[in-house]
Amino acid sequence: EFHLPPKDIHYSFEGPLGKYDNQQLQRGFQVYKEVCSACHSMRLVAFRDLEEIGFSKPEVKALAKGWATETPSVNPDTGEPATRKSLPSDFIPGPYANETAARAANNNALPPDMSLLAKAREGGPAYIASLVTGYADAKTFTKDGKSLMKEFPDFNTPTGLHFNPYFANLNIAMPPPLSADGQVTYADGTKATKLQMATDVSAFLMWAAEPKLENRHRTGLAVLAYLVIATLLAFGAYRNIWHGKK
Ligand code: HEM
Repeated sequence: EFHLPPKDIHYSFEGPLGKYDNQQLQRGFQVYKEVCSACHSMRLVAFRDLEEIGFSKPEVKALAKGWATETPSVNPDTGEPATRKSLPSDFIPGPYANETAARAANNNALPPDMSLLAKAREGGPAYIASLVTGYADAKTFTKDGKSLMKEFPDFNTPTGLHFNPYFANLNIAMPPPLSADGQVTYADGTKATKLQMATDVSAFLMWAAEPKLENRHRTGLAVLAYLVIATLLAFGAYRNIWHGKK
């Protein structure tokens, strides 16, 4: 078993009091926009949903304009659907017209829609961050002192695939999306190391998959407080009723 568990990455939204960090979510969106959206769609997230992580209405409008949304009409010359600039009410489209086109561009693999990815994979956001920063060289890869090539001399990574020990079957069709520190330039001055970009984009994907996490945490705490009070009251009532009746 040379598959690695996700790295130990910490997020602001962990634990019963965890909250999203809007600055981080906005940085994560930037990474999605500038890097991941070249291959991955987010078809369950509308541009206007981004207001929830602190973008203003004019910012959302401007962002949406940068994406082309398909219209029902077809260009008679090419047979392709005609497109228009996206509106805040549109969902974040992918870069490919359909699955055939997506597979043709990705060595027959399909980049999954990212809307729910952070909840769909074991390990959640830490898995995503580990995966995109976890590409390695199979020739020299070791786990617990054991060498992959010594244990499995026939192991190989076919052309078009990439060795990644965080991916369950070790070879993944996605080329390393984060290739260098500073690949994006953050407006808030945060240093864009590969791990920082990966952590930010995975936090953003967690928000996309579970936007109501903070409400859930808050409700959970209120329910616990209610139960504690109800228990104390019930115990007080019990003592009161049975007082002096032994
Ligand atoms: C799959 C993340 C950019 C192509 C995936 C998966 C994740 C992911 C989490 C799913 C792995 C699994 O099934 O467990 C990201 C992130 C990106 C990014 C966070 C940006 C930082 C890209 C880009 C491309 C791409 C730019 C195209 C050049 C693919 C493909 C797959 C995939 C083809 C399917 C892989 C397979 O099934 O072997 N990506 N990705 N991704 N991604 Fe990306």
